[in-house]
Amino acid sequence: MDFSEINTRGLVLLGCGKMGSALLEGWLKGGINADAVYVLDPNPSDWLRAQGVHINEDLPQSPAIALLAVKPQMMGDALPRMVALGNGETLFLSIAAGTSIAHFEGALGASTPIVRSMPNTPAAVGKGITAIIGNAHTTPSHLDMADGLLQAVGQVVRLQSEDQIDAVTGVSGSGPAYVFHMIEAMAAAGTAQGLPPEMAMQLAKATVAGAGALAEAAEETPEQLRINVTSPGGTTAAALNVLMNEERGFPKLLGEAVKAAADRGRELGKS
Ligand SMILES: NC(=O)c1ccc[n+]([C@@H]2O[C@H](COP(=O)([O-])OP(=O)(O)OC[C@H]3O[C@@H](n4cnc5c(N)ncnc54)[C@H](OP(=O)(O)O)[C@@H]3O)[C@@H](O)[C@H]2O)c1
Repeated sequence: MDFSEINTRGLVLLGCGKMGSALLEGWLKGGINADAVYVLDPNPSDWLRAQGVHINEDLPQSPAIALLAVKPQMMGDALPRMVALGNGETLFLSIAAGTSIAHFEGALGASTPIVRSMPNTPAAVGKGITAIIGNAHTTPSHLDMADGLLQAVGQVVRLQSEDQIDAVTGVSGSGPAYVFHMIEAMAAAGTAQGLPPEMAMQLAKATVAGAGALAEAAEETPEQLRINVTSPGGTTAAALNVLMNEERGFPKLLGEAVKAAADRGRELGKS
């Protein structure tokens, strides 16, 4: 991506914790000048201080982009500092879960260009996936800029409507935690079958990471990959009989889990 507009006009980061730092690291590696970056954060980390960016200084008058990366519950306190940049040429990019575009328009001004996004934690290792949706004041080039910036930490998908973001939260936003739990459960099950706990954990982690990498790289669908490793009457078939059980298997469990997360996202969005 061409960062020249950002390097000229500046980039503001409101909140630089786990997510903000993961993004900033990708951007600095990708060609954004440290001197173009202005961070507002009450407790800048040692890592952040070592990057040569402006920290808690006066902001440029019309930065190309302002990333909103504070926790949703801190947004009310933090946003007023950004109001001077609203209703102008600065694109706002929010990664906060549960804070609606309407809320930002109310706080920053109704004609502010705003992109709302939902990233996930594998962004910390460059393997995130983020969904984005813009408001009525975003242009195709705004969306391209947000897309390009978020690609610094993984893949990006574009939504058709803001309400889809709750489903994204249920699948990819909260999803890494489901997979972490699956690793825990697989390791515990391996230990129950006679393996030392550390080895069971190593096997479970590598299996999930390897299967994920294969699913992404292969031309076959995950369904075909599953069929390929399932011989009739074999060991995998015995396990899949349990996991694909209609009453208590993965499809039913994950359907309920994703719905619970999406419903909670809808609830939080209203409050
Ligand atoms: N982590 C995820 O998996 C994930 C996934 C999707 C979306 N998100 C979203 O990403 C956002 C950031 O999450 P995170 O995990 O990076 O949180 P985090 O690590 O707590 O980072 C937030 C940062 O903002 C700072 N902050 C607090 N109040 C502020 C203020 N008034 N002005 C400026 N900065 C302020 C915090 O400082 P203190 O630590 O001193 O409070 C902290 O450094 C959240 O809105 C979250 O919904 C996160």
